[in-house]
Amino acid sequence: MKIVRPGEIMFVLALANVALMVQAVPYTVSGGSSGGYMAQQMHIAYSASVAGAAIVAAGPYHCSMGSLSRVQTACTVNPWLINLPSSVTAATTYATDGAIDPISGLNNDKVFVFSGTSDQRVLQAVVQETISFYQELVPTINITTMLDIPANHGWVTKLEGNPCWYLGPPYVVACGVDLSGIIYSTLYGTPVAKGNFNSSHLFMFDQSDYGDVWQAGMSTRGFIYANDFCRSNPVKCTLHVNFHGCEQSYQTLGLVYIEEMGLGEWAETNQVIIMFPQAMETINNPEGCWDFWGYTGSNFEVKAGLQPTIIQKMAQDYLNIAQNLG
Ligand SMILES: *[C@@H]1O[C@H](CO)[C@@H](O)[C@H](O)[C@H]1NC(C)=O
Ligand SMILES: *[C@@H]1O[C@H](CO)[C@@H](O)[C@H](O)[C@H]1NC(C)=O
Repeated sequence: MKIVRPGEIMFVLALANVALMVQAVPYTVSGGSSGGYMAQQMHIAYSASVAGAAIVAAGPYHCSMGSLSRVQTACTVNPWLINLPSSVTAATTYATDGAIDPISGLNNDKVFVFSGTSDQRVLQAVVQETISFYQELVPTINITTMLDIPANHGWVTKLEGNPCWYLGPPYVVACGVDLSGIIYSTLYGTPVAKGNFNSSHLFMFDQSDYGDVWQAGMSTRGFIYANDFCRSNPVKCTLHVNFHGCEQSYQTLGLVYIEEMGLGEWAETNQVIIMFPQAMETINNPEGCWDFWGYTGSNFEVKAGLQPTIIQKMAQDYLNIAQNLG
């Protein structure tokens, strides 16, 4: 045992405090359909880290109440079954219990919500409830919505993908609207003009470095888009995490969703790194959706959930990942 003088003790305590006060690395999130539900779960659960969220074609937090049959009704086509007060209560109660970050973490966040007028899979009336949910928790002035595009279910682009009215894989629809660009500028302000998607700037990383992906229903493969500048200077680049929808994972589609959805084009010319985490098709989850009803356990929508835990770890480690991409 070493005898320490008071000054040394103070020094050791000061160091301990520094370690305790290490700030979370801020990032923003987006996603469509089940990815929209997951983006929202990450925003609500990890609001001390997540600084903004773009929710596309998804209902409110806690919509399913842990029930797959509610996914197939309330959270997609039967908006009258949504219980909004229970969503708000769930968030505030989880926060009081420490299961999610304090609600105050949402205060200054930008929120963007999109729904197509012709969405047959997740009706616009369901997504209206997402807006109402956020209005309970975030200053209305920080919420931006886009509800007038005649898009069917999917990620909306200017030119890529199926016709705007089409419902089906890869759930990317060309509506003459650059949704990724709108999301980027809503979350970060006016960007530099977009470039071209350069496939040599898309990298695979190992999601299993961050937890038991098998148990979490996630793939070992995750993807990250980082331009030359961001790979050499990751500290100068912010992180945005985008979640694919059901039937849009790498396992199902290959790279089609990542290549066509448009965020890569903005990441090519701006100081942002895009992470595309990947869920996996399993017996409990045959379409490779993100968990918003409990196939990974009843804690799917709080910090301790298997998917949120791994995603948060990956996001917090993005500087390290980006540095080692080559
Ligand atoms: C949210 O709104 C407040 C009040 O207008 C504003 O001060 C703040 O900057 C906004 N937050 C963001 C992220 O834009
Ligand atoms: C893609 O990026 C690499 C360098 O990272 C560059 O050499 C190549 O020319 C780029 N391709 C296109 C089509 O711009």
